[in-house]
Amino acid sequence: MPKKLAIFASGSGSNAENIYNYFIDSSDVEVVLICTNKQEAFIVKRANKLNIPVYIFTQYELNNFVDLHKKLQNLDVDIIILAGFLLKLPAIMVNSYINRIINIHPSLLPKYGGKGMYGSNIHKAVIENKETESGISIHFVNQNYDEGKIILQKKCVVSINETVETLIQKIQKLEHNYFPIAIEKMIKKL
Ligand code: GAR
Repeated sequence: MPKKLAIFASGSGSNAENIYNYFIDSSDVEVVLICTNKQEAFIVKRANKLNIPVYIFTQYELNNFVDLHKKLQNLDVDIIILAGFLLKLPAIMVNSYINRIINIHPSLLPKYGGKGMYGSNIHKAVIENKETESGISIHFVNQNYDEGKIILQKKCVVSINETVETLIQKIQKLEHNYFPIAIEKMIKKL
């Protein structure tokens, strides 16, 4: 039986689409659901185009984790992937899926993690602080924001004339290259 993934995303969903395509012919892994708190997010259009079922929920539904949990259980979801999902998960959800929720963060954690550190905020701070390198962190989710055990980190150079836009491109390339591979490796260990 393939392991079933639900991907949570709040934004464009380029990682979600990339993960879906990576596993499209896999007999070990199947993306069965896209979950989002943002009805208007581009991820919804991508999911519709790819014919992946979408579940849209409110922050309240996330926090009480009753209907959402039922939905995940009905589809036999084994692993939850956070791919640009920006809400904090409630403890009840984290405890129901210990070591089975994976997040990607666009910095070298523990640097540039925590509240307010998402998307271009991170890259702006990295450039302002004259960091010479940045990168991505793929990690298990625990109850503390951006603090779960690291599965994989990959670095890139931050050049002297780096802009937020060029850094986003570098980071996105790393994310698309390594996130599906990290998921695959982690699933093989289950
Ligand atoms: C990705 O860069 C991901 O690392 C980041 O959101 C972007 C989503 O891109 N996540 C965070 O900042 C989480 N704190 P996408 O919608 O194109 O996949």
